[in-house]
Amino acid sequence: MNTPKPDTTPDTGPQDFAHRLIRWQRAHGRHDLPWQGGSDPYRIWLSEIMLQQTQVDTVIPYYQRFLERFPALADLAAAPVEDVMALWSGLGYYARARNLHRAAVEIASRHGGSFPRSAAAIAELPGIGRSTAAAIAAFAYGERAAILDGNVKRVLCRAFGIDGFPGEKAVENRLWALAESLLPATGVGRYIQAQMDLGATVCTRGKPACVRCPFEADCVARSTGRIAELPVARPKKAVPRRQSRMAVVVSNGRVLLERRPPSGIWGGLLALPEIPQDATNIGSWMHGTLGLRAATMAPLPPLTHVFTHFVLEIAPLRIDIEDDTALARDDGAQCWLALADIAGAALPTPVRRILEGLVAPDLFGG
Ligand code: ADE
Repeated sequence: MNTPKPDTTPDTGPQDFAHRLIRWQRAHGRHDLPWQGGSDPYRIWLSEIMLQQTQVDTVIPYYQRFLERFPALADLAAAPVEDVMALWSGLGYYARARNLHRAAVEIASRHGGSFPRSAAAIAELPGIGRSTAAAIAAFAYGERAAILDGNVKRVLCRAFGIDGFPGEKAVENRLWALAESLLPATGVGRYIQAQMDLGATVCTRGKPACVRCPFEADCVARSTGRIAELPVARPKKAVPRRQSRMAVVVSNGRVLLERRPPSGIWGGLLALPEIPQDATNIGSWMHGTLGLRAATMAPLPPLTHVFTHFVLEIAPLRIDIEDDTALARDDGAQCWLALADIAGAALPTPVRRILEGLVAPDLFGG
C-alpha cells in the first residue's frame, strides 16, 4: 500500500518535482483569483480561454463582466455572437470569442448542455488545444492530465536543461513526455496551478527570481549558467541575400526605366535596368542591350532592401550617356522618366530612393 510522502522526504525523483511545486504553491502561489476555488467547468473554461494570450490583471474585469451577462453555459449558447464579441471588445485575439460561442452552441446541441467530462473530449471543442483541455479537466474534475503552455515549457527547459527550440515537434514531444512523467498521483489541480504560478511569478522569461524558486539548487539552467539561453529561442531563418547592380542611365534630366513583368518582385512597376552579374564590360552591355553609349560611369551609394524572404543588396551605377540621339526604345517596356516627375511614378521604394538621391544627394544622409 502506498503511504503518502511526508514533506520532509529528500527531494529526489520525478514525484518529488510535483511535491515540491505543490508545497511551494501552498506557501507562495496565487490563491484568490476569481476563477479559483470553484469546479464549474464553464467558468474554468472561460478563464483559461481569456488567459491564453492575456495577463491576469487585464482578464479579471472582463471575466467578471462576462459572467454577469452570461452566468451559465446555456446563457452563452443562447446569445447572439455579436453580444459575445461586444463583451470581448478590447481583450484582443477575437477568434477566442468566436470559438467560445461556437463551442457553447455545440455543447448545447451535441452534449445536451453539459460540459464534456474528459480532457480528450474537451480538446474536441473549437478553440481548445491539448494543454488548455488538460487544465480545464484538471481544475474542474481533478483529471490527471499534463499541461504544456509557454510558461511550463520554460520551467521544464530550464529545470531539466532541455535543449532545442520547444516549438520544434521533436522537442515538444519530449516536453510532453516529461510533463506527463512528472504528474503527481493526486492534487493535480494545485500542481497545475503551481506550474502556472511559478512560470508567471518566478521563472519569468527575463530576470527570473531564482532565489525564490523551489528548484534553485537543482535547476540545470541555473547550475550551468544557461538561464538566458533556455528555453532555446526560435531559430532565426538565414535570410538569403541577393546582389543587384542597377543602371541609373541619365540623359538630359531624365532616367531610363523598365517596366517589370507582371509577376515577380515589383510586378508592373517601373524599375532600373539590372546589369547582369556576368556582364564584366558594362560599356558593351549598355551598347548591346540598351543601344546606348556610356560617357561616364560612377557608383552611387549602395542600399539594402528587405523583402519577406530575402534581402536585396543594390549597387546603383550612374551612367551618363554620350548623346541622346540613340535613345532606348520608348515603348512602355522601356521609357524615359523626367527626374522632376518621380514623385507620381509607380516606382519601388529603393528605386525611388536612388532617384531622389540623384535630385537631392543629401537625402542619402551623406
Ligand atoms: N494562465 C493560464 N491559466 C491560468 C490560471 N488558471 N491562473 C493564472 N494564470 C493562468
